[in-house]
Amino acid sequence: MSEPILTAWLNGQFMPLEGAVVHIEDRGFQFADGVYEVVACVDGRFLDLDAHLARLERSCAAIRIELPLSRDALAALVRQIYERNPFSRAMIYIQITRGAGPRSHYPATSLSPTMVMTSRALPQPTSERVAQGYRAITRPDIRWKHCEIKSIALLASIMGKQEAHDAEVDETFWLDECGHVLEGCSTNTFAVIDGTLVTHPLDHQVLGGITRDLVLRLAGQHGLTVVERPWSLSEGVSECMLSSTTNAVMPVCYIDGQAIADGKPGSTTLQLRQWLIAAMESPET
Ligand code: PDD
Repeated sequence: MSEPILTAWLNGQFMPLEGAVVHIEDRGFQFADGVYEVVACVDGRFLDLDAHLARLERSCAAIRIELPLSRDALAALVRQIYERNPFSRAMIYIQITRGAGPRSHYPATSLSPTMVMTSRALPQPTSERVAQGYRAITRPDIRWKHCEIKSIALLASIMGKQEAHDAEVDETFWLDECGHVLEGCSTNTFAVIDGTLVTHPLDHQVLGGITRDLVLRLAGQHGLTVVERPWSLSEGVSECMLSSTTNAVMPVCYIDGQAIADGKPGSTTLQLRQWLIAAMESPET
């Protein structure tokens, strides 16, 4: 069977992904001068699309790029890129850079932003993977001090993922100088400590995950006690989990080779995963 032709959106036009190219002087290529967003779609239903586009607008504003289109126009385009590609469960990547121009650190104000959208299959962990849980390692956070911006400058995260791969685990969790678990390279992290769901508060050290918000919302709705505070692995963690658009919620059962509790996914984690998947598969609210 031949590969399906995928469609990308680049600066105002749909085109075959294969032929979609950006100028070599694009500041995204030269300086990682841009931001991005990833949104999941399941059978035509987007999960928290507005919240993703609002975060994109905030990321753009933080680096002084004007959103090239209104949020409504962007939402319409996101739906079209989904429709034009062959994945019923898709992840749509939206990337905005400051545009192309002669290389200079200080950006000319006259540049037009470059905007790219692609659609790819949404990865789905198998039920065996869920039952087994993920493994993670921890490393000192080597990233910059604006992790709340969804920047395309992801070198530290790439190095973290390489270390995770070398250690044959799924994710690297970043630790602050006091040993608190901040987040993963591309995921937010949670623990259950004394029956309470705990996650690092929103600040410059973590990305405000849209899935994180949903987890906290669902946990609250179902009467779980939730606390946003710095936490560490030495606190008697009975469950650990991570969240992201592409993972929903996944249990993390081993960290730095040590089992969390009995090394099996915890009941709160599995319950949260179920609630989240139900929210993904139910009509948009
Ligand atoms: N990553 N923290 C970081 C550093 C991330 O890169 C991500 C998302 C998250 C989770 O955010 P959300 O729930 O909004 O997806 C947390 C995406 C999936 C990516 O880079 O592909």
